[in-house]
Amino acid sequence: KEQHGGRGGDLRFTPVRPNKDDKLTIPENYRSSVVVRWGDPVLPDAPAFDFDNQSAEAQSKQFGYNCDYVTMFPMGRDRALLWVNHEYTDESLMFRDYPGGAEATEEQIRIGLAGHGGSVVEIEREGRAGEWKLVTKGRRRYNRRITAETPMKFSGPAAGSDLLRTDADPEGRKPVGMLNNCAGGTTPWGTVLTAEENFDQYFVNGDKVPAKQRPYVERYTIAEGTPEISRRFDRVDERFDLAKHPQECNRFGWIVEIDPFDPDSTPVKRTALGRFKHEAANTTLARDGRLVVYMGDDSRFEYIYKFVSKDRYRQGADRHNRDLLDEGTLYVAKFTGDSPEKEIDGSGKLPEDGEFDGSGEWIPLVSGDRSYVQGMTAEEVLVYTRVAADKVGATKMDRPEDIERNLVTGGVYVALTNNSDRTAAQADEANPRAANKHGHVLEIIERRDDAGARSFAWSVPLVCGDPDDANTYFAGYDKKKVSPISCPDNVTFDRDGNLWISTDGNALGTNDGLFVMPVRGRERGHLRQFLTVPVGAETCGPMVTKDQRSVFVAVQHPGEIDGAGPDNPGSRWPDGDQPRPSVAVVWHRKGLKIGS
Ligand code: FEO
Ligand code: CA
Ligand code: CA
Ligand code: CA
Repeated sequence: KEQHGGRGGDLRFTPVRPNKDDKLTIPENYRSSVVVRWGDPVLPDAPAFDFDNQSAEAQSKQFGYNCDYVTMFPMGRDRALLWVNHEYTDESLMFRDYPGGAEATEEQIRIGLAGHGGSVVEIEREGRAGEWKLVTKGRRRYNRRITAETPMKFSGPAAGSDLLRTDADPEGRKPVGMLNNCAGGTTPWGTVLTAEENFDQYFVNGDKVPAKQRPYVERYTIAEGTPEISRRFDRVDERFDLAKHPQECNRFGWIVEIDPFDPDSTPVKRTALGRFKHEAANTTLARDGRLVVYMGDDSRFEYIYKFVSKDRYRQGADRHNRDLLDEGTLYVAKFTGDSPEKEIDGSGKLPEDGEFDGSGEWIPLVSGDRSYVQGMTAEEVLVYTRVAADKVGATKMDRPEDIERNLVTGGVYVALTNNSDRTAAQADEANPRAANKHGHVLEIIERRDDAGARSFAWSVPLVCGDPDDANTYFAGYDKKKVSPISCPDNVTFDRDGNLWISTDGNALGTNDGLFVMPVRGRERGHLRQFLTVPVGAETCGPMVTKDQRSVFVAVQHPGEIDGAGPDNPGSRWPDGDQPRPSVAVVWHRKGLKIGS
């Protein structure tokens, strides 16, 4: 490991101040541009975007809505493929006078189906500094749209399980589409892992499934009846009606693997990685070469997981590597504080030794067809993973969002975005704050720095909020010199090992943004804001390119504020017209390293 990494030595930019401006605000001496917008043509035969005449056919060939996870696959120095998740659609911003799911036209509902999924687009570098642009001419042979209707397949130990069978797929092997793909990761063999998160919101009649299935439908919070929801996919495709097809919901909530370099490939739902409201799936290698995938389940009081493959990754052995995600062990995390806790006036607990830290273990849940959970078969553990984790006494966390290993320092970082429901009595050292409005960041150091380990040490370097608030903590750094931060969501690292954090839902009343924080040395905890996004948007993606000259962010749901709509847009970003979720790139005007 790089001994000097993660210390923030080259971070010299002047932080951006919190604001409510309807624009992408970046530091002095930086430039930004929009790479790709909702509705931009992805397939070469896609029509140009027309807000007032959108069709499902057009949307299925154009860049989808609400961009989230962003990653890049280089094709030489100045060309690359960009992968982007499209988490969800917001029909009230996409259509004029949208009447709600029950009254929507079938075409509007189909546009929603086509606006989900993901996109592969070719991009090219513009000039030398760090700007990238969408390739808009030529064959663009890799460009691809994945939607809620793309044929997929299951692999791994639960593929073909009774629990995954439906009338349309009696073998339980061919799911259709992916939904609510939030964060993700990449594999060492150059594919994308994309995480299906809040899939529950697409189904109706959760109360009309067989009695035996009811507790599981409830554990995944699928609504009863046909509530007043904004999307009613069941009105154009009956598989979303659980009264008719009760097990269709079991076919969502997975990690999906997609090969961006093979546009004809079938996306694969990897069942060995379990089923929950998946946020991320970041990979690293154990000391012995086994592949490790870190994952979060982003709901209040849910868990942190990791998967460790049975076999080792072998560089260049593509056929061998591509089966690694089908066989291995799924673990869930348990955190134990290392000191007695004392109550702090109803707002949570403070450890008596002054630090939030302790030890932890990875509790095995399932390995192939072997279940480690009493009363559950291996297939049940994989399909109803939340229930399995409940039974083994895993630690209930404050909404685990992104989790990723810092490849420079070896630490693993988890964004715990918030949890307004935690009471003072429920506060523990790993989730120390009651009514946790602003979230925190947790650091895991695996035993012997081995990602394959069964135990770890942990600490909480960042308790978010306004630094003037006594309740916040910035790893002991001088709080007068840090930026306020609220609701950490996605994390990533630059090649120097600094931690970058993007936010969603800033409860301090200003716009969301992107921050950077050194994780070692004297600068540990010196959090600085690098950019802010327009009104109503969350900041997703973040990706610092390997050459460190560009940082990409997905600006998700600009204009999504109460009462906003096309006649009264909450944002006019990026074009001064209707807001369009877009991926932007930021670079230093002289081509210097990001953060300089
Ligand atoms: Fe889709 Fe957990 O953010
Ligand atoms: Ca997220
Ligand atoms: Ca990440
Ligand atoms: Ca979020």
